[in-house]
Amino acid sequence: MLHKNNITKMVFPSISSFSFLFILAFFLLLTLYTTLHRPTTTATPSNKLHQNDRPHSLHYQNIFLSSASNYTLATYLRHLTLQPHLAGTPPSLQTTLYVKSHFEALGLETHVSNHTVLLSYPSFSSLTAHFSNGSSLDLPLSEPGFSGVVKAYHAYSPSGSALGQPVFLNYGREQDYIALRGLGVQFKGCIGIVRRGAGLSRNAVVEKAAAHGVAAVLMYTEGEKFAGVERGTVMKGLGDPLSPGWWAGVQGGERLRLNDSQLNERFPAIPSMPVSADTAEIILSSMEGAPLPQEWRENLKSNKIGRVGPGPVLLNFTYLGEKKMETIHNIFAVIRGSEEPDRFIILGNHRDAWTYGAVDPNSGTSALLEVGRRFALLMRLGWSPRRTIVFGSWDAEEFGMIGSTEWVEKNLVSLGSKAIAYLNVDCAVQGPGFFAGATPQLDDLLFEVTKKVKDPDSENISIFETCKVTNKAINIQRLSGVDSDFAPFLQHAGVPSIDLYYGRDFPVYHTAFDSYDWMVNFGDPLFQRHVAVSGVWGLLALRLADDPILPFNYLSYVAQLQEYRNTLSNFLEGDISLNPITLAIQDFKAAADEIAEQVKKLSEDERMDEFSVLKKRMLNDRLMFAERGFLDAEGLQGLRWFKHLIYGPQIDGGSELNFLPGVVGAISRNTGMNKGERQEAIQHEVWRVARAIERAACALKGSLT
Ligand SMILES: *[C@@H]1O[C@H](CO)[C@@H](O)[C@H](O)[C@H]1NC(C)=O
Ligand SMILES: *[C@@H]1O[C@H](CO)[C@@H](O)[C@H](O)[C@H]1NC(C)=O
Ligand SMILES: *[C@@H]1O[C@H](CO)[C@@H](O)[C@H](O)[C@H]1NC(C)=O
Ligand SMILES: *[C@@H]1O[C@H](CO)[C@@H](O)[C@H](O)[C@H]1NC(C)=O
Ligand SMILES: *[C@@H]1O[C@H](CO)[C@@H](O)[C@H](O)[C@H]1NC(C)=O
Ligand SMILES: *[C@@H]1O[C@H](CO)[C@@H](O)[C@H](O)[C@H]1NC(C)=O
Repeated sequence: MLHKNNITKMVFPSISSFSFLFILAFFLLLTLYTTLHRPTTTATPSNKLHQNDRPHSLHYQNIFLSSASNYTLATYLRHLTLQPHLAGTPPSLQTTLYVKSHFEALGLETHVSNHTVLLSYPSFSSLTAHFSNGSSLDLPLSEPGFSGVVKAYHAYSPSGSALGQPVFLNYGREQDYIALRGLGVQFKGCIGIVRRGAGLSRNAVVEKAAAHGVAAVLMYTEGEKFAGVERGTVMKGLGDPLSPGWWAGVQGGERLRLNDSQLNERFPAIPSMPVSADTAEIILSSMEGAPLPQEWRENLKSNKIGRVGPGPVLLNFTYLGEKKMETIHNIFAVIRGSEEPDRFIILGNHRDAWTYGAVDPNSGTSALLEVGRRFALLMRLGWSPRRTIVFGSWDAEEFGMIGSTEWVEKNLVSLGSKAIAYLNVDCAVQGPGFFAGATPQLDDLLFEVTKKVKDPDSENISIFETCKVTNKAINIQRLSGVDSDFAPFLQHAGVPSIDLYYGRDFPVYHTAFDSYDWMVNFGDPLFQRHVAVSGVWGLLALRLADDPILPFNYLSYVAQLQEYRNTLSNFLEGDISLNPITLAIQDFKAAADEIAEQVKKLSEDERMDEFSVLKKRMLNDRLMFAERGFLDAEGLQGLRWFKHLIYGPQIDGGSELNFLPGVVGAISRNTGMNKGERQEAIQHEVWRVARAIERAACALKGSLT
């Protein structure tokens, strides 16, 4: 296994001579490409205006693909991961300057937007086990041997201590407490030990434990014998907790006071902390009491855990943390569109990391810089996009998507009226295999683009072909999770979104082992997966920025909604009618069919006169606005900031249905209501979804009813 972050593997004489070499290499590459790839169609400004766009943009797409450099990607990643760079700390400013100066050196219009927000850091923690045989053990709290890495903690956990017996809570789901009660296990006042999983957020786990009278929570991530500790946030909801739903700016803006009762909903009531799988095993393997329920045992990775407790081991746990106002920095680089500068394609990735951040998130940051480098190259060759491309490098994502959320809140009106799509890459490379999440109208585009990008792990075959061979098709996830910066864009602002990554479930997630060394040894030894993600990301942006008619297919959305409706019908009992949704989908389908026909007709229209241009623009606006129809001013019940009724979080996680969160939430909520009230609540959510689909259908039709 990894022992320490071995920095000496790549020897650079010094930073400054290194950057010089890098800049030199960059200009050499640039010269090379300028000589090798002279555009075959001369790209004079007038030509650009009257082009028949496809061959012209194809030409630039090909140059984009052929100008990839795994060496450059490795260099970026090495630089970004030299030190741990937690948001709000001085080393994080170094990465800010690195990204900013890189964009500037490429000649891109660059600016930094600062926000002062409430962050949270640990100041003291301890965990001692007193075993029944009389021996005591101070348990390790972080990975040993790392300096400069923040000790393992849960951001926004309240300070507190607990002295009590531990009890195993499995995933901490409602059904786990029911199982424990069935065994007669007392968990009130105990310290809950929870394994991460089953789709519950850390916040949901801790809140639920608090509601059940548990005194404190220790969370671990299952894995092979491994000392890594998974840091994370336990804040509920997104964005700066002191400016919920609005942008407070750098200073002087309205903010909640720290004693405001609204914050009780954002932060858990009891302290919690992450521990390693090793530490959890030491505690759990010493426990007595009832044996584990069979269902828990089935997929448990450790075979030393047999009983749920409580005790007899006694734990003494203390966590002291500090909440602090810190300034965070979002960085933007902009390529102005030449024909529709007021339409935006946004590529985003966060920059802040719990530790070194080689996977999370700087594999994505390297890809962002690489796409920027290659777009700058295209510009030198005469390209300028039809629409505006914005690169966003977010800060403080790990604390709860704070940088991106504050920016989305501030720019809500412009995003709502002008943003075509948001393309997110967080942990670009976690291992082998291509994965994507998307809103369904972008599925086809993803297929087309992955046909053009080489599979990094086999020869002469595209990513698309590989996926077809291995799992029949690219398995596109939907974006109901709130685990990266697409959440504010899609779930608050209704911007069609995509999320891309290579590999999933990497073992060093949020631990001190997420370093450049891990990437070189395990994640992506030749940096070809980085090349592949950059290729898909950049091509998506080129298509969305340059296609005269937006590459959106709403028939995929129709099919997906029909599938949701059918799945849902299996979960319903009683008098609940899905008919409103069925009828709304019919309208949505009619609108999608109609616009598909119009898109086809207009794509054949090569005229560039004012009226033809305007007709395309009107069509594109309908394609762009349809997604906003799914937003609802009231938002999700109990999570009102989340406005999207098709994709969004459920109030307490726990259901495997990751769509129509309002309806699914109403189905799984079963407390405090009689049967009739419950059915009425579900029916109400069904109506809300039906109305949202109708709104989307109207937007797609484009005319007033
Ligand atoms: C944002 O913060 C950086 C780093 O502290 C600072 O250099 C810069 O001047 C700030 N920008 C603005 C617009 O305040
Ligand atoms: C909250 O703190 C402010 C000062 O920071 C104080 O004036 C106010 O009385 C406090 N409110 C409550 C409810 O404690
Ligand atoms: C006491 O019990 C713990 C947990 O079962 C075990 O790890 C430890 O080695 C034991 N100590 C002694 C002195 O037996
Ligand atoms: C529990 O740990 C705290 C902090 O390390 C310590 O101050 C306290 O004395 C301990 N309590 C017991 C009962 O061991
Ligand atoms: C890949 O394609 C190249 C050129 O077309 C060919 O020379 C090579 O043999 C192919 N490799 C494999 C593994 O098919
Ligand atoms: C880049 O890829 C080539 C070909 O796979 C490989 O030989 C080289 O070592 C890679 N460079 C880096 C920095 O990983």
